[in-house]
Amino acid sequence: MSYEYLFSPISIKGLYFKNRIVMPPMATNFGIVTDQSIAYYSKRALGGVGSIIIEGTPAHLFRNKNFQERLKLLADSIHKSGANVFVQLTIRSNPQPRKDVTEIPIDEIESYIEDFVYAGKVCLEAGFDGVEPHGAHGFIMNQFFSPIFNRRNDDYGGDVYRRMRFALDVIRGLKSVANDRFLILYRHTPVEWKDGGYSLEDTILFARELKKEGLDILDVSPSTAPGSYDYGALAREVKKQVGIPVIMVGKMYVPDLADSKIREGYADFVAIGRTLLSDPFLPKKIQDGRFDLINSCRQCNIKCHGYLRRRIPISCVVNPSVGREFLERGSWSRELR
Ligand SMILES: Cc1cc2nc3c(=O)[nH]c(=O)nc-3n(C[C@H](O)[C@H](O)[C@H](O)COP(=O)(O)O)c2cc1C
Ligand code: SF4
Repeated sequence: MSYEYLFSPISIKGLYFKNRIVMPPMATNFGIVTDQSIAYYSKRALGGVGSIIIEGTPAHLFRNKNFQERLKLLADSIHKSGANVFVQLTIRSNPQPRKDVTEIPIDEIESYIEDFVYAGKVCLEAGFDGVEPHGAHGFIMNQFFSPIFNRRNDDYGGDVYRRMRFALDVIRGLKSVANDRFLILYRHTPVEWKDGGYSLEDTILFARELKKEGLDILDVSPSTAPGSYDYGALAREVKKQVGIPVIMVGKMYVPDLADSKIREGYADFVAIGRTLLSDPFLPKKIQDGRFDLINSCRQCNIKCHGYLRRRIPISCVVNPSVGREFLERGSWSRELR
């Protein structure tokens, strides 16, 4: 099997993607622009992934001059290693303190929007290919869209259109500083799996408005879906009904499955998270047919999610090199033999 769909190139606006495999944002606790982080991401770029979305990064950090200078090193290193690079933008810290969106004053909302737009400008100047506001997984931006969390009765809450306003303001602001090669993504959880939560129909309305604002790619991430759920089905529905390029994500660790999702039109991109922790060279190994060499993820969550919960740097039970890439640069290519 050649996995021709997974490895078929695509262009969105002025940006070329060599394949459809995306590394989704995954918090590491390595620091975003440290040598440790740069080596960790660059190794995965060298391993053949088409695009990397850097882990959730608080937008206000981009105002720091030292951070800005180091960002360029991160973008350059990933580009040189062969992948496109985006950054996921969050509000404040990630995981965020669960501040009730109903209580946030308007001037604070406006300051969040300014932070996002400023961060977008900095990323463009640092050479990134785009940014992705994090509107998924129950964090603050997602809570604005939720009828459960958002009980405001002003421009940012009430009916479904007012609940999407915060995200639309952010996307409009980011588009105003972007050029044709700098893409704006948005990560969204398509269904709120709770009584009284938003539905897929609400998400379709939202995605249509995001598209009108010029959103380039919707990253559909049903993180809290019941275990056996078909993760791609929701992405496919959004793609079909809205006609916007989508990324799907979740347990795409079998190459045949990932390829079939592109072939069958579920999504334009497939994000592979934990399996790129367990094996940075996964895309190259799939392309070369070296399945014997793949270091498979066990879906155990012990050293990735587990370490995050303990607030320590992540690792992986089958790949102790995670986080040690900067110490082992000379030996990276040995893993391909
Ligand atoms: C250690 C770890 C950290 C994560 N951090 C983020 C994050 O910062 N932002 C985000 O949107 N998703 C985050 N995720 C979710 C992943 O992006 C992805 O959606 C999830 O792991 C499912 O994909 P997979 O089954 O291929 O691993 C994280 C996942 C892991 C394992
Ligand atoms: S710790 Fe377990 S779940 Fe996490 S990446 Fe490694 S094998 Fe996969």
